[in-house]
Amino acid sequence: MIIANWKMNGSKEEVKNWIDIFNDHVEYENQSGCIFCPPSCFLDNANEIISSNNIQLNLGSQDLDPDADNPSTGGISGKMLKDLGCDYVLIGHSERRMYFNEHEDVLLQKLTSAALNNLKIVYCVGETKEQREQGMAIEAIKIQLRALKGLPVNLISVAYEPIWSIGKGITPSLDSIHEMHQIIKDELKSILNTEENILVSYGGSVSAENAVSISLLNSVDGLLIGGASLNPESFSKVVNNITIQD
Ligand code: PGA
Repeated sequence: MIIANWKMNGSKEEVKNWIDIFNDHVEYENQSGCIFCPPSCFLDNANEIISSNNIQLNLGSQDLDPDADNPSTGGISGKMLKDLGCDYVLIGHSERRMYFNEHEDVLLQKLTSAALNNLKIVYCVGETKEQREQGMAIEAIKIQLRALKGLPVNLISVAYEPIWSIGKGITPSLDSIHEMHQIIKDELKSILNTEENILVSYGGSVSAENAVSISLLNSVDGLLIGGASLNPESFSKVVNNITIQD
């Protein structure tokens, strides 16, 4: 699972170029685990290019709005995302938690809507710098994970994204990533009441340089890549290198 999170970047033309170059560079057998998350306004365009050229690339949304009984100007529902060709949705990204005030109550509604519409969820969790420095990182992550209780196990995956690492060019040590992923996996078993291995991806300043070593950790099942996913050549390189190492 290698996720390209474009955040609020790109244009219709850049979407087309990115998919074309990705398709030319990525070794075909490595493509199936990639998920492209452009801004919502480009999803239809991306879906059209992917399906008309038979490209093996999954489409994901960076967000969704909860199904609501009230009129919701500007909202995009899970059903609409399905209609646009999405199979995946990111929920709980720290930028949405911070800048759009998405707290647990809203996130619960989003998670439920995604599940009702059979979207595969990538639920993002991460601690702040202060929480880490105060020894509260594990507790903070466990609290965020509680929102997943009761959701269908087959639709859930988690992305561990330390907030202090996102877009900063710094990452936790490999040991620290491994330790947190193990904790998340154990916690998920108890919250979701399952023995299944729930996939946990790492995100936060993943680059062409560090992607392979992070992905080689046996508790890391995928990568969520922001800034470094914008360039299709280097994103494809990451995808190819990782699978070669497998
Ligand atoms: P970054 O972003 O790779 O630019 O750090 C990751 C993310 O926010 O998902």
